[in-house]
Amino acid sequence: MKKPGSRVSSEKAGRKLKADAPKARGWGGPGGRLDPEVERWFATEGAAFPSSRSSIIPMLQAAQVALGYLPLDAMRAIARHLVVPPALVEGVASFYAQFRFNKPGRHRVTVCTGTACYVRGSGKLLDDIQADLKIASGETTADGAVSLESVSCFGACALAPVVVLDDKVLRQQTSVSMKKVIQDIPSGPSKGRSRDVRSSPAARGARK
Ligand code: FES
Repeated sequence: MKKPGSRVSSEKAGRKLKADAPKARGWGGPGGRLDPEVERWFATEGAAFPSSRSSIIPMLQAAQVALGYLPLDAMRAIARHLVVPPALVEGVASFYAQFRFNKPGRHRVTVCTGTACYVRGSGKLLDDIQADLKIASGETTADGAVSLESVSCFGACALAPVVVLDDKVLRQQTSVSMKKVIQDIPSGPSKGRSRDVRSSPAARGARK
C-alpha cells in the first residue's frame, strides 16, 4: 500500500518532468522557443494531427507545403506534438527525397541528370548553370532568387536534355540557352515590385 505522501510527490515529479521536457529533449530552439512562423503553422494546422507516430510523414508534408521547406524548428514542433525525440523526426525526413531543408528561392531551376539527358550533355549543362549562378545543386543564390536542383528523370526523355523552370518544361537545353533563361529570371522581393538590378541574375553574372 502506498504511503499518503507518495502520490503527491510523484505528481510533482511528473509536472516537473513535463515542464522540463521541451528544453531537456531539444524540442525548442534557443531558450526553448520555436520560430514564430513555425508556431503559427503549428497552431493553425499542425496541432490538429493525431498525436501518434503515424502522423510524422503527413505532418512533415503539411509543414513543407505551408512553409516551403522544413526548417529545424518545424521538425522540433512535430517532435514536441508527437512526444518523440527530434532526431527521430529528422531521421524520417532525411530518408525521403521529397523533403527540402533549405529555404527555396523564388524560382526553381531543376536539371535532369538521368541517362537520356546525361548522354545529351546534361552533366556539363549542370556544371555551367552552377558556375553561372555561383551555387551548387541543392543551394539557393544569395539574393534568394533561384534554387538549383537536379533530378534523375522527368519522364520526358524525348526532350533531352530537359530543364524545368518552376513548372515550365524547357526542352533540349544548352549552356547558351540556359544562360539566357537564367538572365531572364525575374528577381526582386515579390511580384509587382520593381526589379532590383543590383541583385538581378544579369548583375550577378556581371560581378563574376
Ligand atoms: S532522363 Fe531526363 S527526362 Fe528522362
